[in-house]
Amino acid sequence: MHRVYLDNNATSPTLPEVFEAMRPYFLDKFGNASSIHQQGQQARAAVEQARERVAELLNCRPAEIVFTSGGTEGDNLALFGLVKPGDHIITSPVEHHAVLNACKRLEQIGCEVTNVPVDGRAQVDPEDVRRAIRPNTKLISIIFANNETGVLQNVKEIGKVAAEADVYFHTDAVQAAGKVPIDVKVIGCDLLSLTAHKMHGPQGAGALYVRKGTLLQPMFYGGRHERSRRAGTENLPGIVGFGKAAEIARLGFMDGSVERIASLRDNLEKTIVETLDQVSVNSAGAPRVPNTTNVVFDCLEGEAMVIALDLKGLSVSTGAACSSGAIEPSHVLTAMGLSPDRARASIRFSLGKQNTEDDIRFALQLIPEVVTRLRELSPVYKKPVSARA
Ligand SMILES: Cc1ncc(COP(=O)(O)O)c(C=O)c1O
Repeated sequence: MHRVYLDNNATSPTLPEVFEAMRPYFLDKFGNASSIHQQGQQARAAVEQARERVAELLNCRPAEIVFTSGGTEGDNLALFGLVKPGDHIITSPVEHHAVLNACKRLEQIGCEVTNVPVDGRAQVDPEDVRRAIRPNTKLISIIFANNETGVLQNVKEIGKVAAEADVYFHTDAVQAAGKVPIDVKVIGCDLLSLTAHKMHGPQGAGALYVRKGTLLQPMFYGGRHERSRRAGTENLPGIVGFGKAAEIARLGFMDGSVERIASLRDNLEKTIVETLDQVSVNSAGAPRVPNTTNVVFDCLEGEAMVIALDLKGLSVSTGAACSSGAIEPSHVLTAMGLSPDRARASIRFSLGKQNTEDDIRFALQLIPEVVTRLRELSPVYKKPVSARA
């Protein structure tokens, strides 16, 4: 069966160039980067080259990159590495669970957490962040690009608020990397999390940018890897693949591939809205990453639509991958004011570098067909008068 994958915010396929870069590090170049012999030196050189490539993507020093197992670890290291009982954290209700649940745990161990609200487009007002600052505020953690809606927060302004108050600023940039340029100096953040598998690298590798001079308490105790910030033998093939993916991501802003994805996404979104009634785009009009669109198909059950599309060869999602299958409506969509029913009727389409015009044509053929069929079964759907035969 012909299959099209439009769920790249859940995970994106490893590009063939990335896989080829990794291949030797599973086979003859298998060394431990901490060993002093030939194989060890070869591994060390590869890890350091990858570190340089990731640093170039963020415009930081290679020494400010700490390799992790992915976004969840980076977020946890940023939060638990800085915040202690009695400290106050400012965050938002549209964070990924890696930050939301870390904050819940921090609250249980005696930290104070403030959730600043978001508006109807899921954006945080930096002035609300400023107003939430208290004498014991240690950290502001606000997501850069949301995984469900693709909405970009005004991280530059939030960075200014943090700097003026002399508070640490962490941003989860897992869904921003490769989609919008990231310059940690322009943002003014102290910590920033990335993961390779959302940018066409392998699963299980990621990084935390830690601004020079930021003292982090490590989460793991062991060897002195990653300048004692993250103990454990480096994931050599994963890190090499991440480095290659970072290089490709940086070039993507110059070779037209980001614009190509943006135009495919725009065409998909525009055609869905023009073709079907009672359909709208969540966070339309807000600044968004170019690969994501989140659409409400009123009077439908999102999960039913995901299954129906999957059976016909199209992979999409109702939101965060980890909550697929859950009946709970998305916390992101309800935080921006959607009713639970409309949140449940929302579908995320997220594109990647592998997607083509043919993929979008295929999706645009299937979606109206599936929506029309499911709505015929819906007890709440009423065809608009103009569309009735
Ligand atoms: C915004 C965001 N942060 C963090 C994560 C977690 O990243 P990882 O899967 O690498 O642990 C994800 C993954 O869905 C994400 O979308």
